[in-house]
Amino acid sequence: MDSNINERLKLEEYSKKYLQGEYYEQKKFENRIVDNFLTDPELDEFWTSSQSENAQYIKDTSMAPMAEMLFGQEPSTHTTANYHIFKNFYNNPQWSHLVDIIQPKLEAEFGSNIRASHIHVLDSWFPYGLHNDAEQPNMKLAPEPAWTLIIPFDTCESTTYVFNERSGFKDAMEFAKYYNVKPHGLETTGLTKEEYELDFSPITHPDNLSYLTVETKFKWKRGSCFAADRFKYHCSSNYLNQGIKNKKAIILWTSLA
Ligand SMILES: [Fe+2]
Repeated sequence: MDSNINERLKLEEYSKKYLQGEYYEQKKFENRIVDNFLTDPELDEFWTSSQSENAQYIKDTSMAPMAEMLFGQEPSTHTTANYHIFKNFYNNPQWSHLVDIIQPKLEAEFGSNIRASHIHVLDSWFPYGLHNDAEQPNMKLAPEPAWTLIIPFDTCESTTYVFNERSGFKDAMEFAKYYNVKPHGLETTGLTKEEYELDFSPITHPDNLSYLTVETKFKWKRGSCFAADRFKYHCSSNYLNQGIKNKKAIILWTSLA
C-alpha cells in the first residue's frame, strides 16, 4: 500500500472545509445497528492487539474536574478512559490482520469508499458528557467525515444517547448559541424525569439537554455495531448509576473517499 495512505489533512484546512462549510448541512448519515458485526474470536483479536505494546496508549483525564466536583475524587487518581490506538491502521503490518477482519465488513455495510480514519479500543471509567466526533481530521485519501462506530466488548446496562441536533461545533452550547436555539424542558428533549435521573444525573445538567432532542438510544451489546452521524451530539448514559464500573468498545471515526 502507498506509504502516505495515512496522511492527514491539516487541521485548518479540514476545519474550513468540513466543520465550517456546507458539508455537514448537505450530508446526512442515517443511524444503524448491525447485530453480530464481529464474532467472539474477532473481538478477541482486537482486544489482544489493543493490549500489545504496538498500540499507542493515551490516558484521558478530561472528566477529572467533574469527578472531583460531584464525587470528591482526587484528580490524580482519576481516569476518564484509556485509549489503545491502532495508529496507521492501513499500513502498519501489525494491524493487517485487523484490517482483514473489519474492512470487508465495513465496505459491505457502508459502501466501498468507507475508511477507518481513526480506530481505537476505548476502556471507559467515567461516562463521557455531550460532544460530537467531527473534529478529528481524516486521512487525505478519505477526507469526508461520516459515521462514528461503536462495537462493544460488553453487553451491559449502558446506553449511548444520540440526539437529532448536529453541527461542526464540538460543544453543544456553542451550537445552541450560534444557531440561536431556544431552550426547552426535558419532555421536549424526549426524556421522562425517571430517565433523566437514571441515565444523566448528576453528570449532565438539564440545561445542557435543553437544546437537544433524543433521536436514538443504543444499548451496549457485545459484537453489535452501532453507527451514528459524527456530527450528531451524543453522550454516554451515566452507567455509574447502574453500578457499572467500566465498559469497553472498539471505536471508529469513519470517513469517505
Ligand atoms: Fe463520541
